[in-house]
Amino acid sequence: MKRNTGLFIGIAVILAAGVIAVAVINSSNKDNNKSKPAPSQNSSNSTDNSNPVDATAVSIKNYMFDPMVIKVKAGTSVTWTNKDSVQHNVVADTASSDAPKGPLIGKGQTYSFKFNKAGTYSFHCMPHSYMHGTVIVTN
Ligand code: CU
Repeated sequence: MKRNTGLFIGIAVILAAGVIAVAVINSSNKDNNKSKPAPSQNSSNSTDNSNPVDATAVSIKNYMFDPMVIKVKAGTSVTWTNKDSVQHNVVADTASSDAPKGPLIGKGQTYSFKFNKAGTYSFHCMPHSYMHGTVIVTN
């Protein structure tokens, strides 16, 4: 009996250590995601990314805004949807009341901003400053 109890405690300790190890690995993965480098972009594809697309919906996926550059009429709301499992946001490079400054949104969440004034609005994601996009607003 005594021997069995000792064995049981031994197994319990090993299991607990395993759970802690997994938790530590998970949390360090989270940190790694924060500093994940931008996916390498093939320069021959860059023209496709920078071509303005008529769209009011932008996906955030694989640490990129897609489409990267959109064109809308003044008075249009643009909605971003995060499809990554990490949090992203949409923040204008130049702060202004006419430009977006969104909160961090998680997977499946959206953020909308209404562009009332014509202009070219470059934006980025604050935790991942290499994530860039542009909204071109015309009258
Ligand atoms: Cu981000």
